[in-house]
Amino acid sequence: MSSDHPSHAVPIRQTRLLIDGQWVEAASGKTFETLNPATGQVIARVAEADVEDVNRAVSAARRAFDTGPWRRMSGRERGKLLYRLADLMEQNMGELAALETLDNGKPLNDSLNGDLPLSIDCYRYYAGWADKLEGKTIPVQGPYFTYTRHEPVGVAGQVIPWNFPLLMQAWKWGPALATGCTLVLKPAEQTPLTALRVAELAMEAGFPDGVINVVPGFGPTAGAAVAEHGDVDKIAFTGSTEVGKLIMQAAGRSNLKRVTLELGGKSPNIVFADSDLDAAVEGAFFGLFFNQGQCCCAGSRLFVEEKIYDEFLERVTRRADRQVVGDPFDPATTQGPQVSQEQFDKIMAYIESGKSQGGRLVRGGARVGTQGYFIEPTVFADVRDDMTIAREEIFGPVMSVIPFRDVDEVIARGNCSLYGLAAAVWTRDIHKAHRLAAELRAGTVWVNCYDVFDAAAPFGGFKLSGIGRELGSYALQNYTEIKTVTMAL
Ligand code: NAI
Ligand code: MG
Repeated sequence: MSSDHPSHAVPIRQTRLLIDGQWVEAASGKTFETLNPATGQVIARVAEADVEDVNRAVSAARRAFDTGPWRRMSGRERGKLLYRLADLMEQNMGELAALETLDNGKPLNDSLNGDLPLSIDCYRYYAGWADKLEGKTIPVQGPYFTYTRHEPVGVAGQVIPWNFPLLMQAWKWGPALATGCTLVLKPAEQTPLTALRVAELAMEAGFPDGVINVVPGFGPTAGAAVAEHGDVDKIAFTGSTEVGKLIMQAAGRSNLKRVTLELGGKSPNIVFADSDLDAAVEGAFFGLFFNQGQCCCAGSRLFVEEKIYDEFLERVTRRADRQVVGDPFDPATTQGPQVSQEQFDKIMAYIESGKSQGGRLVRGGARVGTQGYFIEPTVFADVRDDMTIAREEIFGPVMSVIPFRDVDEVIARGNCSLYGLAAAVWTRDIHKAHRLAAELRAGTVWVNCYDVFDAAAPFGGFKLSGIGRELGSYALQNYTEIKTVTMAL
């Protein structure tokens, strides 16, 4: 997997913590390595935040919220700063995309054509909301005038994962900054670099000191400190269900900070015989293999109607064969490495479990190359609902194709999961489509498409997939408190 492409030419401009408008080393002086998943080599050492740094960052955010200029700024002005950040990101798109690819391993094409435009669009979308946060006037009984104000919740703690670093940052920062909150972001330890670069651009855009603080570090130390902190008014988390539960417990133990969680999934992707099969094959392929399979909403239970099962399996497998696994900086590459050794090992263990529990391995299943964390596009056929690979989130390029007979059966089986993040239905029958859209217990149902995201469309989970919704106007509720004002007339 040796690289002829200039991944080494990506500039690493920032590796320190951003606290109160200053770039600082960690209080402990410690640093940690961030690796290039395509080679396993160290890219840079990054300042490692721990409890003391989080305390400083939260104090700065608290001050900026309580007494800083941010508080007096109008929504219109906050919106301008967000637009400026989006413009600066656009001007630095090539650099940011390369940095994302270097740190995460996703193909440069995807960073450039997916992560960057979606992130920039998200900032612009929320910039537009900043001056449109309106309360209501409410007719009440008696000689009183009652109205509501939608006020920022305060200091937002934000802990994000490594699968879409720039985008998860945008989903968290957009609504927080539009509503007038201040924030402390802890990026994932695997991918801290783009968060720091965007924070530099935010300072250049002119956000006041202390409004934005970024503290890279590990989960059980820096992440847990954000979740426990009594001066953090709200925490937003994206990651594993296991850690989501810890975050909620920490909120309960400390100050009942508001909690939103976007967690794992095991999303059913349901293909009926009456669908446009070309589109369904492409959607099934993309819905699972996109981003090296590292998507919370991956269509990892691919239910295919029995009468087309063999044909569909054959076609989707041939589609997977066209995946080009390799150097993420190579324009021909469509699948890069998994993000880390840990994720690689976890996925390989799931592949073993699929084989030992009787799944029929029709493609892949092995490592690619000798360095980096590359895995062959893998397809299992005849997967049963009770197999581990049909129940647990794999978060890798491993497809499970599962036969079904009829509508009632597939609704029940589709819903038979602890998760409820997303689902998809492929059919030309509008009645069937609406019935499944209503009956599938998931935060998003795609019909005849997959992974269609828009900053305006809410996203989040039922059941163990999380609490609350990100994106759209719905996300604004997570970052505001409603105040009722009643005045005697
Ligand atoms: P994780 O949930 O441990 O990490 C996500 C973020 O939480 C990181 O920033 C991490 O530092 C932080 N964190 C970890 N422990 C924490 C704690 N005790 N308190 C506060 N913050 C903490 O996820 P990890 O270990 O990277 O991946 C494990 C599995 O989680 C994956 O295999 C996948 O199944 C799932 N996952 C789901 C994601 C999603 O988009 N919903 C994203 C990443 C992982
Ligand atoms: Mg973890």
